Amino acid sequence: MNKQDKFNLLENNNREAELGGGEKRIASQHKKGKLTARERIGLLVDEGTFQEIGKFVRHRSTEFGLDNEHYLGDGVVTGYGKVNGRLVYIFSQDFTVFGGSLSETHAEKICKIMDLAMKNGAPVIGLNDSGGARIQEGVRSLGGYADIFYRNTLASGVVPQISAVMGPCAGGAVYSPAITDFTLMVEHTSYMFVTGPNVVKTVTHEEVTAEELGGASTHSSKSGVTHFACANEVTCLQQIKQLLSYIPQNCEEEAPVYPYEIKNEKRPALNELIPENPNQPYDMREVIEGVVDEQSFMEVHANFAENIVVGFARLAGRSIGIVGNQPSVLAGVLDIKASNKAARFVRFCDAFNVPLLVFEDVPGFLPGTDQEWNGIIANGAKLLYAFCEATVPRVTVITRKAYGGAYDVMNSKHIGADMNYAWPSAEIAVMGAKGAAEIIFKREIAEAKDPEAKLQEKVDEYTEAFANPYRAAYRGFIDEVIKPEDTREKLMAAFEMLENKVDQLPKKKHGNIPL
Ligand code: HXC
Repeated sequence: MNKQDKFNLLENNNREAELGGGEKRIASQHKKGKLTARERIGLLVDEGTFQEIGKFVRHRSTEFGLDNEHYLGDGVVTGYGKVNGRLVYIFSQDFTVFGGSLSETHAEKICKIMDLAMKNGAPVIGLNDSGGARIQEGVRSLGGYADIFYRNTLASGVVPQISAVMGPCAGGAVYSPAITDFTLMVEHTSYMFVTGPNVVKTVTHEEVTAEELGGASTHSSKSGVTHFACANEVTCLQQIKQLLSYIPQNCEEEAPVYPYEIKNEKRPALNELIPENPNQPYDMREVIEGVVDEQSFMEVHANFAENIVVGFARLAGRSIGIVGNQPSVLAGVLDIKASNKAARFVRFCDAFNVPLLVFEDVPGFLPGTDQEWNGIIANGAKLLYAFCEATVPRVTVITRKAYGGAYDVMNSKHIGADMNYAWPSAEIAVMGAKGAAEIIFKREIAEAKDPEAKLQEKVDEYTEAFANPYRAAYRGFIDEVIKPEDTREKLMAAFEMLENKVDQLPKKKHGNIPL
């Protein structure tokens, strides 16, 4: 073989690898409204930055009629590139090769880039589109999955891990995205489930489509397994880029800071947001958007447990993680799902040095047998635990209600928050005035000539005494009562003051969060 032949061989190999499962299967992928593994990478990374690793890897199986001469790359494109100038590691499963199914070598390729990501401290982005374990390979494929799960777990809290599900993701394969920090799904072309509709029908006699069982809208609203349901693949990839802009490369670094020039930071519109009637709802998103840098709020888990809002934003160009009770859904009450959603978000922010800002308007925990029997105690404790162990800068603004245990849980001073503000509309008490009056004045009300009038009198008395922020401020549990319009200025100053915060947890192997 002369030099030219050798160059030609390389070119042919490259061409073959880039064609994956071939033109026909690429056309079929497009017909389903899906992009190929390489097209997806092309949309994700900065132009010309992708460097492929393991392009010529072939599987080693020859059983069940498999021919190991074919399919260079073995159904997954792996490598590194840049997103907005920052290094990321990527694997993108190629459905045109054995349905993107995971063989031993396919898994080895993924593990290789995960190991590089850990050593070099940069995020891992997985674009999943796979029929699951390569059936012909049996336990070698299962072992490959386990190798990935193991690395997902070791990498958790070290480098950010993001999973996009852009096709099938079934069986045990779902556990890799589940361990990663954020999961995105594409509406109508992706699904995730442990067992598919056929097994479900056999075992439980339920008739359900793949979309209903495990589509993007199901997992973004019912199960909370996915954080983002994206209208199509292009928006999905854009959302990954946006998400990356708020987070650091690894647990030793800080998120990128965007240039910001201080202007007039008063926001008078915030003075009008809280209704006079304390039982009237309002949208906490308006508070958040009114406070943070314009158009910087990226909500996470928007369709799940909507009684709590979580997401990233920037304040004077710096990344912050926001948790806010949402009075317009279930009065902003804390329930099992809301506690889980917020706890996981708080832990992500803490693991990756993103300061936390809490907007609080919470009437308490949701009562009822459903909540108690399904473990609101253990689940509510997760949120409490997550805040307690967070060592990043933590600031709270109580906009209205801060009642009962929920007052403690929602980043109170007592569990380590650094700065706690309250608006004049804040009500900080053990419970709502009516409930409180009924308990502590029970006998007086029962013995009164007009029990209704007596109850009202006691409710008014309690309201007067407790439905304000001052008792908490007298004790120093609130650092300052502020006018809503000053919130942005106060928060900018507070987070700047906390910029070099150092706080450490007691030495331990790891805590035992109630799961
Ligand atoms: C090997 C597979 C495959 C698999 C699909 N293919 N899944 N090859 N192993 N797991 C191949 C097909 O043979 C076909 O090859 C090509 O991929 C495309 O598949 P189609 O069936 O034609 O595509 P489609 O109609 O879109 O259906 C996609 C699908 C279906 C729903 C994913 O292929 C399917 O049900 N596959 C099996 C899924 C499954 O049971 N996987 C194991 C789950 S258990 P050709 O040559 O025709 O293009 C599991 C355990 C993991 O994953 C455990 C981890 C702990």
